[in-house]
Amino acid sequence: MSSPAEFDGAARPDLWWRSAVVYQIYPRSFQDSNGDGIGDIPGITSRLDYLAELGVDVLWLSPVYSSPQVDNGYDISDYHDVDPLFGTLADLDELIAQAHTRGIKVVMDLVVNHTSDQHPWFVESRQPGSAKRDWYFWRPARPGHEPGTPGAEPDDSQAAFAPSTWTYDPRSGEYYLGIFSSAQPDLNWEMPEVRHAVYAMMRWWVDRGVDGFRMDVINLISKPPAFISGEPLDPGSAGLGQIANGPRLDEFLAEMNREVGLDVQNLLTVGEMPGATIEVARRVTDPARRELNMVFTFEHVSLDQVDWNKWHLADLPLPRLKQNLAHWQDGLAQAGWNSLYYDNHDQPRAVSRFGDDSAEHRVNSAKTLATVLHLHKGTPYVYQGEEFGMTNAPLTQIEHYLDVESLNYATQAAAAGVPEEQILRSLARKARDHARTPVQWDQSPHAGFTTGVPWMGVNPNYRQINAEAARRDPDSVFGHFQRLIRLRHTDEVVREGHFVLLLPEHDQLWTFTRSLGDRVLLVIANCSSTPAELPPGALPNLDQAMLLLGTHPDSAGGTLAPWESRVLRLAAD
Ligand code: GLC
Ligand code: CA
Repeated sequence: MSSPAEFDGAARPDLWWRSAVVYQIYPRSFQDSNGDGIGDIPGITSRLDYLAELGVDVLWLSPVYSSPQVDNGYDISDYHDVDPLFGTLADLDELIAQAHTRGIKVVMDLVVNHTSDQHPWFVESRQPGSAKRDWYFWRPARPGHEPGTPGAEPDDSQAAFAPSTWTYDPRSGEYYLGIFSSAQPDLNWEMPEVRHAVYAMMRWWVDRGVDGFRMDVINLISKPPAFISGEPLDPGSAGLGQIANGPRLDEFLAEMNREVGLDVQNLLTVGEMPGATIEVARRVTDPARRELNMVFTFEHVSLDQVDWNKWHLADLPLPRLKQNLAHWQDGLAQAGWNSLYYDNHDQPRAVSRFGDDSAEHRVNSAKTLATVLHLHKGTPYVYQGEEFGMTNAPLTQIEHYLDVESLNYATQAAAAGVPEEQILRSLARKARDHARTPVQWDQSPHAGFTTGVPWMGVNPNYRQINAEAARRDPDSVFGHFQRLIRLRHTDEVVREGHFVLLLPEHDQLWTFTRSLGDRVLLVIANCSSTPAELPPGALPNLDQAMLLLGTHPDSAGGTLAPWESRVLRLAAD
């Protein structure tokens, strides 16, 4: 039995986040409490017992701050308040308190590479001579061009969700930078006042009881020196490549850590870092440098594309995926720490993407994908609905898509002459909307998400795939996630064991060992929809191995069923 101390959700022992499992909530789609069709904070509080039953240690809330909602809250107009869509500050205080009572910590999303264009800082910055002018990046029109006319943007760089990173403001006749969209102007972190305003805001949240921060695109805060000194950005997507991982990134993160007391207070910190290499991640997460606990890499979720463009689809053979994760395990083995994820609010559903979401294989492929991920070394992240195998949505027409990223892609691709079938194929595979359909709680109308009209349609498969059905069935994906989470909590080898990938070229089997002293775990997973033979002699001796967790408990021997996985404890020699 756990001691009461373990249920003190507000206590933060040293390195507690290394044994934690984090659950991400996208509030808009989690649970509506007032019938307006939009998930909200009281809705989350009403589901805390479910999350406690699952066994997770931490909730990460995607943004609930005041926001015009151009990018569903990743455009913040007031960092110190909750958007009325989601409730009130008092509701959030109550959620934090109720989570802590259940031994669950709460991590806030922190979006400080940019604000909303409605944020008072930006409103002031728009005034040409204002004291906050340089809190953002302003540039004159391209030489020889009339400001505000087509082609007069300072350079040809493209925003992530818009044709240009530059937006014209007639008030001054200048342009401002928005790497994502014109509704999300980039803050200028070169200004000490900007940094200190952000740190003060973070301290305010820590004082309110939050246990850490997930930092949105945090490796974009230090911009390249050439850009700072006024040079144009290269054409093509500002895509993060040329803007990410600037020379002052480590300095800013270390300063933030010091000024907010991130390490001193044992807060969980995870930096979202598109374009970060292992080398950057190693630096940022090396405990000696006191920057962040861990980062979200994008490498493994960029393997099924070409040209650094998520819409340019490519097949993904298993060896590439497992070798990439292994590469990160090796890269951060000596210093630093990994985060482990497939799913979040920006990615299509893992079971549809890396597994097989057919009726025949959905359950076992969701379980086996989870087994593999959760048995790696690092902190696993579960995204709402992943724990019972939610799938991509059947979105078959452009009109079905709501997300700013998808709509911008569809418009630009159509203008460039890409055939509609191809656009729809890319969207069906990669759109962020797949992750954003409402959580399927039960069989009731709208899957129990709302009594009103949901802001986004519920996936019609909710009658078969829902949390209630999964909770009742011990063989469900939900039951499997519970067992994986428990195993991490109880087994030190799962938390700290050294990782070695076996059979790196095998195109069906994902298999590896974890070892700590003389204790060894072996994971064998068939990541395919056909049976797989264990190659004789290629794996450690399985005589006397003990099955800790499997998808097909009655099976043994040298053939794995489709999507079968086993976690074995090997006998010590
Ligand atoms: C991050 C968020 C994404 C958002 C973008 C801009 O990638 O996860 O949802 O659109 O940053 O804030
Ligand atoms: Ca609501």
